[in-house]
Amino acid sequence: MKTLSNFGALFIDTNTLVKDTTKITAEITAIGGFVPETILDNKALEQMVDTSDEWITSRTGIKERRILSDRSLATSDMAVFAIQNLLETAGLLADEIECLVLATSTPDHVLAPAASMVIDKAGLKNAWGFDLNAACSGFLYALSIGSSLIESGRHKKVLVVGADQMSAIVNYKERNTCILFGDGAGAVLLEPAEGDAGIKDHYFKTDGNGVNYLSVPAGGSLFPASQETLDQKKHYVFQDGRTVFKSAIKEMSNSCLEIMQRNDLASEDVQWLVPHQANLRIIKAVSHALDFPIEKVKINIQRYGNTTAATIPLCLWDYKDDFKPGDNVLLTAFGAGFTWGCSYLRWGKLRKK
Ligand code: ACO
Repeated sequence: MKTLSNFGALFIDTNTLVKDTTKITAEITAIGGFVPETILDNKALEQMVDTSDEWITSRTGIKERRILSDRSLATSDMAVFAIQNLLETAGLLADEIECLVLATSTPDHVLAPAASMVIDKAGLKNAWGFDLNAACSGFLYALSIGSSLIESGRHKKVLVVGADQMSAIVNYKERNTCILFGDGAGAVLLEPAEGDAGIKDHYFKTDGNGVNYLSVPAGGSLFPASQETLDQKKHYVFQDGRTVFKSAIKEMSNSCLEIMQRNDLASEDVQWLVPHQANLRIIKAVSHALDFPIEKVKINIQRYGNTTAATIPLCLWDYKDDFKPGDNVLLTAFGAGFTWGCSYLRWGKLRKK
């Protein structure tokens, strides 16, 4: 079937196009991660709120999560540790990095990007960088921006990091939310791809109505911090769990199906699904909707809980030895905003020192 694509003012018959061999594609060539040492398990939460290990395990799949308990550290420090792990594993120097895109919803400060602090502390002397806030979809949105910087030819080494200290914005007296979240950071390096590997496609959506169901209500410009907002506990995560739950299943499934359809991928053509880790029941429902056996789905929620922008890079980090050159991998996320989407990549080769 002939398809027409709109290219500027011209309509071009895509069947007559010759493959553009000069097109640059971005590829993940290194991965790093960091989780704090302190473990908050379900048994400990039983002492803090009216809950049980049985309820948390059966309703979410989470057994424990990591907490950044050293109060002198913050999100930027976890991002630095993940980057240092990446550079060490890949045998790269900090001053080789040209750009940093940091996905986070918990920057160290409301004003002054956490990326600036990361660049300083990690010694990325030749890099510029910025924060990107798209909640749990932040890593995928950042991956798309990082890829564009490689594809445009503007940069050859771009770090994309997802880092969140959710313990800083969670109310540990509220059982609906405190059982879900943890702290952590994951980092990937993007470089121009060799061969057929690389990031092939992205599909993203945003729906601002989602703010009514998932947000930190105060501390921004609408409700600046005041005694009243403190008294009303408006600086903590608020969530209507059921609405978020249903929307996450629907939108993650649909965005993966959209990507599969437009890239001619059947279920059996996809080797791995790496979903945002918010709830094991959401992950299982998405894999069912896509007709993926659960063995093809990467899951580490039982150990880390929901680390927001860090879940997907932490999953890539945990399972990096399972991905083989040529594997088709789908990454999918849903989060506050609402934000959601899917990225499709073909695995290449990771750098080794
Ligand atoms: N322990 C024991 N009971 C609990 C707990 C708990 N920790 N939390 C809630 N309950 C109770 C509720 O009070 C309710 O009791 P009731 O029926 O007497 O009112 C009952 O359990 C069922 O509550 P639901 O909210 O319906 O439970 P649900 O099965 O939906 O699970 C959960 C709640 C885990 C929050 C789920 O809705 C969920 O995972 N939602 C999506 C989370 C998510 O994806 N977030 C997105 C990303 S976050 C971001 O972007 C920053």
